[in-house]
Amino acid sequence: MNKILTLNNISVAGLERFPRDNYEIASEIQHPEAILLRSYKMHDMDIPESLKAVGRAGTGVNNIPVDKMSMKGIPVFNAPGANANAVKELVLAGMLMSARHIGPAWEFAKSQEGTDEQISKAVEAGKKNFGGFELPGKTLVVVGLGAIGRAVAKVAEDLGMNVIGFDPGLTVEGAWKISSSVKQAASFDAMLPEVDFISFHVPLIDVTRNMLNADRIKLLKKGATILNFARGGIIDDAAMAEALKSGHVYGYVNDFANNTLKDVPNVITLPHLGASTQDAEDNCAIIVSENVKDYLENGNIKLSVNFPEVNMPKCEGCYRVTIANSNEPNMLGQISSTLADAGLNISDMVNKSKGDLAYTIVDVNDQISEQVVEALKAIDGVLAVRVL
Ligand SMILES: NC(=O)c1ccc[n+]([C@@H]2O[C@H](COP(=O)([O-])OP(=O)(O)OC[C@H]3O[C@@H](n4cnc5c(N)ncnc54)[C@H](O)[C@@H]3O)[C@@H](O)[C@H]2O)c1
Repeated sequence: MNKILTLNNISVAGLERFPRDNYEIASEIQHPEAILLRSYKMHDMDIPESLKAVGRAGTGVNNIPVDKMSMKGIPVFNAPGANANAVKELVLAGMLMSARHIGPAWEFAKSQEGTDEQISKAVEAGKKNFGGFELPGKTLVVVGLGAIGRAVAKVAEDLGMNVIGFDPGLTVEGAWKISSSVKQAASFDAMLPEVDFISFHVPLIDVTRNMLNADRIKLLKKGATILNFARGGIIDDAAMAEALKSGHVYGYVNDFANNTLKDVPNVITLPHLGASTQDAEDNCAIIVSENVKDYLENGNIKLSVNFPEVNMPKCEGCYRVTIANSNEPNMLGQISSTLADAGLNISDMVNKSKGDLAYTIVDVNDQISEQVVEALKAIDGVLAVRVL
């Protein structure tokens, strides 16, 4: 029976992937083989000796001590892109809300009193204050062309916008997924004078903190609208508030409420709604549950932030051992000779590395004894050994 500890509420759609006759799942459980979580901060937690896998039902893993997990040979799984559609739809809603003054217009219509005839007259007279503009032909700059940025770029193109992308870390695989009509920005500063909309889809790291600061806001085309559904801290909110008050910036739509922006005109702040649809939570939970289950049962690794992607179909009648180790020379040789010394014949084997870590799956022709496991663990650089 595998035990799974949930540190946050995880969508039932994901938990259903673990058959109840083989898995026990609870928010309080001793000696768990796996932990599933969303935003729970694991940094100060004592890591159970029994732990073999961590699954984050979402994208970011800064609430998880990934380095500590790596040193113990524990893969951390996540679900990149599973919430991209949810965020994309909110970005689109944000652009439309800002362009058509939907919030104030709705308030205005709601606030009218009197007979139907009086209300109709009042709204016809007042609607000129909420005219707005349309999206086709406008230029949108997408900063960060990962799962969400790409989805935003696509929907904007479909609406007839000119899309410029900026992502110095774009992978070849990522570039293939972007329409060829999305223009590539020469530099971040170079495109600022061209933007009608600029939407941020980057992680919050040192280089992206205050990426849009007072100096860069000055470079923006007058009347631009800024969208931040990535993280608070990427835009200098105090500088943004000034630019909105002066009228240099037309609107600021964001998902991160704070006092600096509270009563500033033309700010639309949502309560961190980006990925909070049930569909997104289901998608994240399903992806991460399936991959954690495959790891626990077969040792395969898919969508792990610290370990390489490794998959090997289990051979009929074989016995499987998996080894997580630091990525250094002669590990495979030592693993093979340890198995050979125990009289085990290797039927199939796969080894992959990612950064400082490597992972090996070996299928052998006979049962793997506790002695062999201890001999494998004793190899310098081996972090974890599992027999499946
Ligand atoms: N509002 C919400 O609820 C919500 C929900 C999900 C994700 N997010 C945020 O959205 C961000 C993007 O998510 P994703 O799934 O697309 O991530 P992702 O990892 O697929 O993409 C991030 C992209 O940013 C690029 N990047 C990194 N540094 C950059 C820089 N300095 N300039 C330009 N590009 C840079 C990377 O190369 C990568 O392509 C996440 O990091 C997270 O902070 C917010």
